[in-house]
Amino acid sequence: MADRAQDFVDTFRLFLEEVVQQQRMRPAVLTPIGVTVEEHVGAPVRDLPLVSEAIPPHRLVDADIALDHLTDSPGSGLFGCSGGQQRYVEDFPQLLQHPHVAFAPAPVDYVTVDTGPDSQRRVVAFGIRLVVFEGKPVAVLQRAAAPQFGRATASLDVLSPDADLSGRLLAEVRRLMLTHSVLRGKVLTFTGDEYAHQAAGATFVPRPAVSAEDVVLGPGVLEQITGHVVDIGNQRVQLADAGQHLKRGVLLYGPPGTGKTLTVRHLLASTPDVTAVLLTGTSIRFITEAAELARAMQPAIVVLEDVDLVAHERGMHGGPQPLLFAVLDALDGLDGDADVAFILTTNRADLLEPALTARPGRVDLAVEIPLPDADARRRMFALYASGLGLSEAAVQEAADRSEGVTGSFAKELMRRAVLRAARNDRAVSDADLAAALDDLLSSGATLTRTLLGVGGGGQA
Ligand SMILES: Nc1ncnc2c1ncn2[C@@H]1O[C@H](COP(=O)(O)OP(=O)(O)OP(=O)(O)O)[C@@H](O)[C@H]1O
Ligand SMILES: [Mg+2]
Repeated sequence: MADRAQDFVDTFRLFLEEVVQQQRMRPAVLTPIGVTVEEHVGAPVRDLPLVSEAIPPHRLVDADIALDHLTDSPGSGLFGCSGGQQRYVEDFPQLLQHPHVAFAPAPVDYVTVDTGPDSQRRVVAFGIRLVVFEGKPVAVLQRAAAPQFGRATASLDVLSPDADLSGRLLAEVRRLMLTHSVLRGKVLTFTGDEYAHQAAGATFVPRPAVSAEDVVLGPGVLEQITGHVVDIGNQRVQLADAGQHLKRGVLLYGPPGTGKTLTVRHLLASTPDVTAVLLTGTSIRFITEAAELARAMQPAIVVLEDVDLVAHERGMHGGPQPLLFAVLDALDGLDGDADVAFILTTNRADLLEPALTARPGRVDLAVEIPLPDADARRRMFALYASGLGLSEAAVQEAADRSEGVTGSFAKELMRRAVLRAARNDRAVSDADLAAALDDLLSSGATLTRTLLGVGGGGQA
């Protein structure tokens, strides 16, 4: 009995080995997709050289638009691929010739991607495009990133009998991606989450609508800043002709709540066709990507908000500040004739100054945004009181009593006055304003005042 069992085990083992061996020897056969591609390209697929290009996830939508331009000629086509998860694992040539799986044409896989703060596009996430380029047939596999299958980026794989032709097609795709980019003229932030379905690394934000009247600064200050950021851009042709550089760096510094971010928002509102990348706090680590994008999309603005946060960051072994150096490198790395404005904001200019003076020329305009003086405060209080029906005298008196406060304080004061009246079911009056101010100036509201960015001095 034991012998017979042993015989059976031996036979079975031989049988298994034979099966495995046969599987190994089995030649790759042309799949239905392979047949279709061969018909289009007019050459045996096993002879076709493969030329591939990685696409950052946030640029897949641009690649999709570019390839749509190339796929609209007669003789071109687009289809998906059967084969479940296996198709994500295999490279393009294996989809055409495979020993086990008969990959066949199927519906295209799409993914919906943002193309603006409130617009989307259906983008090919897995599809094979049959293209006619320079009069010759080419096949392109377009796929989105699939990190779960080891594909960290999106990619384009090109097969044609002529590798040079494939290379030229990819160059044309890159050119069209720049010309038709959905990022151009938009305001973006980098989230860092490259695989997030919607964001894909770059998130669109609506362009702010802040007019010059909304920003109350000392005489000539806003004009000086817009002159540097906006007007230099408007004179780009004349400046470039005269060999003058276009790249510029502006540092806005001053206490919290004085209107630095508001000024930036006004600059973005004043440059409606300019691509802008906003980096705040931890997202400043994407400075290199942001600078690259700005160069590609120029005219562009790169905003680094609260840049002092990176000055605090230490290297691995307590060494110098790597992120701050990355920022300085980015400011320096772009050619002088790049129409890119870097705007840095901080309330700790003292932390940045050593690095900026050690490597001069990165920032060519530094503007202090100080606490508003008596005149600016009156204008600011009037701005936030407008439309409320308060008397001019009461508003001015409130401004005069509030030495050392910022715009955030003025705004909050008006809100409290309105709230006070609303609680009593009546329209806001001068008395509400005075009472709200008493509250905010009382000793019990010290922390609130600090949080509103009251910089000290006077009663505050
Ligand atoms: N100069 C100003 N003119 C008009 N409104 C102002 C001004 N300063 C501040 N405000 C009001 O206060 C809010 C906060 O100001 P903002 O965010 O611009 O301050 P900030 O200088 O960027 O402060 P931080 O250094 O803390 O970032 C603004 O959205 C605006 O409502
Ligand atoms: Mg700010």
